[in-house]
Amino acid sequence: MAEREPIGVVGVGWVGLCTAACFAELGHHVYARDIVAEKVAALGRGEVPMHEPGLPELLARNAERLHFTTEMGEVLDNARLLFVCVDTPPTYSGDADLSRVEAVVAELGDSEDHAIVMKSTVPVGTGRAIQRRRERLGYVSNPEFLKEGSAVDDFMRPDRVVVGAGEHSDGFAGRVAALYEPLDAPIVRTDVASAEMIKLASNAFLATKISFINEIANVSEELGADVNEVARGMGLDERIGDKFLKAGLGFGGSCFPKDVSALKQLAGNSGYHFQLLNSVIEVNDLQKRRAIGKLQKHLGSLVNREIALLGVAFKPHTDDIREATALVLAARLQSEGAHVRVFDPVALENAEELLGGARIAGTALDALDGADAAVLVTEWPEFAELDWAGEVRGRMAQPVVVDGRNFLDREALEAAGFTYEGIGR
Ligand code: UGA
Repeated sequence: MAEREPIGVVGVGWVGLCTAACFAELGHHVYARDIVAEKVAALGRGEVPMHEPGLPELLARNAERLHFTTEMGEVLDNARLLFVCVDTPPTYSGDADLSRVEAVVAELGDSEDHAIVMKSTVPVGTGRAIQRRRERLGYVSNPEFLKEGSAVDDFMRPDRVVVGAGEHSDGFAGRVAALYEPLDAPIVRTDVASAEMIKLASNAFLATKISFINEIANVSEELGADVNEVARGMGLDERIGDKFLKAGLGFGGSCFPKDVSALKQLAGNSGYHFQLLNSVIEVNDLQKRRAIGKLQKHLGSLVNREIALLGVAFKPHTDDIREATALVLAARLQSEGAHVRVFDPVALENAEELLGGARIAGTALDALDGADAAVLVTEWPEFAELDWAGEVRGRMAQPVVVDGRNFLDREALEAAGFTYEGIGR
């Protein structure tokens, strides 16, 4: 095998670690730097600090090509393409906080041998602003489209790879595109601002699709239609597509909420009022609370009711709880006077301090024991496999289930005597 270009990764969070592991799998030596010494030490010992299917195996298999360090010098000495993977969380105003990106840029100097390859999601215009200050350094925008819970697969089988660069970084852009050649995916070669916009617009569009189907769900409930059937019928139209048409208790996670508000703010700052995105956000905020009304419909007042929340992670196969619906629900339920117990197969450790007065249960059955109602918040497969008709029915004080992801077998639950409430059905 021809010698593959070594690469640098700056910021070993979820994106950085997945990127590092996948490039190592493709045969590259990867020099990955993080400022948190304990994290670097743990990675050096082969410990994986997050839950992501397939990632531990990839890290173990490619350990000899993965070099974790706290030293930027080690990265700069060994690699020319520097993938910046630090996070850009929202500020109070909804704008993206670029302080971590700026701190990295300040460390990189201005050598014409190196190029920043921006994977972090940044506002449109960030690349241009950095290039103005670092004229010699190359700059390539290479946004990531990985989904938590299926990141390894997404990396290895991307729908497309976006590579944005100005003329002066043409050579670097070619080298970045070449890294992805083994994946046989369409490469979108474009300018930096368009690449930045492709990322934000893609996430905003997917979030819009979810808010749209959630509103169709809410109307379907009123009009007697079943949103699952509606989505199936709509999704077969190739122009619509069947993905991201699952109604539920709203979208969460570290990306959609943040990127929708970042794009809205960005538009606002440029003098354009992005009306549609306001609605996408508002619909999502209301949707997260929708389980409350459904519980009240069956239980009346929620004061002193025991409510079990199944799932805390913002979606299955991750331990990420950022913007998770369960956090909003737990707080709202408690302010209605309910007692909340929660269970999640992997996310409890992360959630404990954010769940306030909620009781952390050791198992799903423990959470359901004596509960007046259960709300399925995250569609972990193991929740469908519970013995609902037998053990769960026997343990719950009242057989009321709000299925916030239309995930459980409604007929089976109803046959077992449960009062079942889905979303949009
Ligand atoms: C999202 C995008 O899908 C990725 O392409 C992107 O790279 C990533 O953000 C990012 O910007 O880093 P992620 O947030 O990991 O990925 O998760 P998704 O699978 O997209 O789910 C986001 C939220 O939408 C979850 O809360 C999920 O439950 C919800 N969702 C998704 C629905 O409510 N309905 C659907 O049909 C699909």
